Amino acid sequence: MLALSASLVCSPVLAGTAPAATGDKNAFVADLIGRMTLEEKIGQLRLISIGEDMPQPQLLKEIAAGRVGGTFNSVTRKDNRPMQQAAVERSRLKIPIFFAYDVVHGHRTIFPISLGLASSWDMETVAQSARISAIEASADGLDMTFAPMVDISRDPRWGRTSEGFGEDPYLVSLCAQASVRGFQGTSLANADSVMAVVKHFALYGAVEGGRDYNTVDMSPLRMYQDYLPPYRAGVDAGGGGVMIALNSINGVPATSNTWLLRDLLRKTWGFKGITVSDHGAIDELTKHGVAKDARESAKLAITAGVDMSMHDSAYRDHLPELVKSGEVPMRVIDDAVREILGAKYDLGLFQDPFKRIGAAEQDPADVDAPGRLHREAARAAARQSLVLLENRERTLPLKKSGTVAVVGPLADAPIDTMGSWSAAGKSGQTVTLLQGVRDALGGNGRVAYARGANVTDDAGVVRYLNFMNWDKPEIVQDKRAPGDMIAEAVAAARGADVIVVAVGESRGMSHEASSRTTLSLPGSQETLLKALKTTGKPMVVVLMNGRPLTINWVKDNADAVLETWYAGTEGGHAIADVLFGDYNPSGKLPVSFPRSLGQIPTYYNQLRIGRPFVPGQPPNYTSQYFEETSGPLYPFGYGLSYTDFGVSGITLSSPTMPRGGRIEASVTVKNTGQRDGETVVQLYIQDVAASVVRPVKELKDFHKLMLKAGEERVVRFSLDEDKLKFFNAKLEYAAEPGEFKVQIGLDSQAVREQGFVLQ
Ligand code: NOJ
Repeated sequence: MLALSASLVCSPVLAGTAPAATGDKNAFVADLIGRMTLEEKIGQLRLISIGEDMPQPQLLKEIAAGRVGGTFNSVTRKDNRPMQQAAVERSRLKIPIFFAYDVVHGHRTIFPISLGLASSWDMETVAQSARISAIEASADGLDMTFAPMVDISRDPRWGRTSEGFGEDPYLVSLCAQASVRGFQGTSLANADSVMAVVKHFALYGAVEGGRDYNTVDMSPLRMYQDYLPPYRAGVDAGGGGVMIALNSINGVPATSNTWLLRDLLRKTWGFKGITVSDHGAIDELTKHGVAKDARESAKLAITAGVDMSMHDSAYRDHLPELVKSGEVPMRVIDDAVREILGAKYDLGLFQDPFKRIGAAEQDPADVDAPGRLHREAARAAARQSLVLLENRERTLPLKKSGTVAVVGPLADAPIDTMGSWSAAGKSGQTVTLLQGVRDALGGNGRVAYARGANVTDDAGVVRYLNFMNWDKPEIVQDKRAPGDMIAEAVAAARGADVIVVAVGESRGMSHEASSRTTLSLPGSQETLLKALKTTGKPMVVVLMNGRPLTINWVKDNADAVLETWYAGTEGGHAIADVLFGDYNPSGKLPVSFPRSLGQIPTYYNQLRIGRPFVPGQPPNYTSQYFEETSGPLYPFGYGLSYTDFGVSGITLSSPTMPRGGRIEASVTVKNTGQRDGETVVQLYIQDVAASVVRPVKELKDFHKLMLKAGEERVVRFSLDEDKLKFFNAKLEYAAEPGEFKVQIGLDSQAVREQGFVLQ
C-alpha cells in the first residue's frame, strides 16, 4: 500500500490563508457568498481543462483573479500546488479551487475497464478498485473524479459501452453504489477520498444507433424503469457530483433540461451536490439548435440548473450581462455557487486547501515509481473480471510445459491492455499477455511469439484512431502484408503444443466517439484465426474488447475462449493465472452478446410482446429474424468455470407473499466437478400480469459463492415487496398484487422456475 501519511501533512502556513471553515457549513457558505462580487461568483462556476487553450501563466492569473472554480487534467501535486497557491494566497477571498480528473478504472494502477469490473459480480471488487483509485489520485493532489460512469448501454455499437457496467439496471446500480462508496471513503473530507461525479446524466447510453453524442428519444416508462436507476443509486449513495450528458432527451438537451436537473434530480431525488456540464456542452446548445447564440446558451444552462461549466466560454462571457439585465436572477447564480462552495467544504478544502497536495518536501521523487502501484489488488480484480466463454474438451487450464505459441495483435499490446480512459496509467508498467505467459511458464516451457495481424488493415481507421487525443499516436502498424504476418504466426503455431491468440479491438475503438457499424473482429484477425485453426493445434482465443462482439466463428471453432475486456496494469498476469489454472474463472457477462449486428439490441430484460418467439416451436408469425437463430450468442449472466455446478429446483417458504411481508426462495447449488470454484447464483423475477407491460425477466438479486469440489450449499434469497415494485403508467413506483415467477440459475437463460402470489 501507498505510504499515505506523508502526503497528508500540509503546509501550516499555506493552510491558514484560506477562509477558516466554521462548524456550520450553511452559515459559512452563506457568509462567503455574501462577500463575493458577481465576477467572483461566476468564477466559481468555471471548470477549466488544463493544457487546452490556456497556458499556465494565464491560468494562474485567472485563478488569482478569482475567476476559476476548479480545474481538471493535471495529475501531480507539483502541478496542482502553484494553482492552489494562486487561489489561496493571491485571490481576494482566498477560496480554494479543486482538482478533478477522469479516474474511471484506476489512476496510476489501472484496473479492468468498468465492463470487466462488472463481470466480477463482486461489489467488494468494484468498491476496492475505486478505493485504491481514490488513494492514488488523492496522493497526486486530486480532489474529484469524473466517475462512476453508469450509463446503461444496450447498443454495443456505442464505443462508450466499455466505460459502463453493462446493460442491467440492477447490476449497474449496485456497481454505481459500490464505486461511490469506494471513491468517497468514509468521509469526503478524508485526505484519501475523492468526490465521485456520477455521469452522464442522463440516458447517454441510449444514443440513437449507438452513434456517440446522438439524440435520445425514450418513453418515460423505459426511462424510469431501466435507464435512470443507476444514476439514482449513485446519488443515493452520496455521490457529491453529477455530470450532465451531452445528448438531448425527448427534444431537450440534458444541458438545458430543467425537468431533468431541477425537477427530477433536485426535487424528486433530493440531490444536494454539484452539477457539472460535460466538455463544451453549454456552448453546444447552439448546435443542438435550442439557443440562437452563446448568450442564450448560458441563460438556458444556468436556468436549467447547470452549476459548473466545463471548459465553455458562455458562462464567463455572458452571465455578467445576463445577471445585470435581470434575465438571470442573482438567486440562480447564488444557488450554483452555494453547491460549489459546499462541495469544497465537504472536501475539507476550506480547512486545508493542501489536504491532498501536501507539502513540497513530501512530493514523491518519481510519480511513476513502481512502488506506488497496487499490483496485487489489480491482479485480483483482473482475475475476477475474466469470463470463460468456451472450454471444449477441457482445453484449459494449460500445462506449464512445452511450447506455447502466443499470437495476435493484442498479445503484446500494453496500451490496449489498459483500456480507454486509463488516467495516469503507464503502458510501460502494464503486463501484457505475452509477458504474463512468459512469467507463468518461467523456465518450464517455451514461448513462440508472432504478431499475426494488425488490429485493423484500414489506413483510414488507423488515421482516425491516431487522431484521438492520446499523448502520441497509439496505432503502430506492422508494415508487412497480412499474408506474411499470418504465415509467420502459422509457422510458430506448428512448432507449438498450443496456440494462445489474442484478438479484438484496440482500446481507441472502444472509446468516446468510437462507434462501430460492425461488431466483428476488425481487419484480418478472423483470417488469422482460420489459418491457425488449420494447424490442428488446440487454439485458445483471448478476447480483448470493450463491447460485445459477434464472434460466431470463434465460438464454433476455438477450443477455448476467454473474454478479458481490457484487464489493466496486471492484465497479462491475471489472464495467465486463468490460462494455467492458478485461478479458476468466475466472471459472468454483464452484457448479452449478439449473433449478428442486425440482431441488436439483444438485452435480456426485454418487454413482453404479443407474439414472442418460443424456442422449439414453429417460428412463423412470431417476433424473430428468419435468417438468424433467435436469442443471443451468449446470454447476460453467462460464464463458465473449470468446475461444474448444478442447481436444484426452487423451494419457496410460502406460495404467497403478504403485503409488506417477505418470502424466501432457496436452491441447493452443488459443485459437481473436480475443482474448487466460484459461481454467481442469479435470481430473476417476472410479473405475470400487471397494469403495464413488464420485462420477460429482471435480475433482482444474486450471490457469488465459492464451493469446494463436491460441496453443496443452500443459497437463500429473501424476496420482499420492494423487489416486485415497478413504475406504472402514472410513474408511481409500486408492486401490484397477483402472480409472479421467480427464476434462479447460473445465467439469465439457464434457470429453474417457481411461482408465487403477492396478496
Ligand atoms: C468528455 C467526456 O464525455 C466525459 O466523460 C469526461 O469526463 C470529460 N470529457 C472530461 O474529460
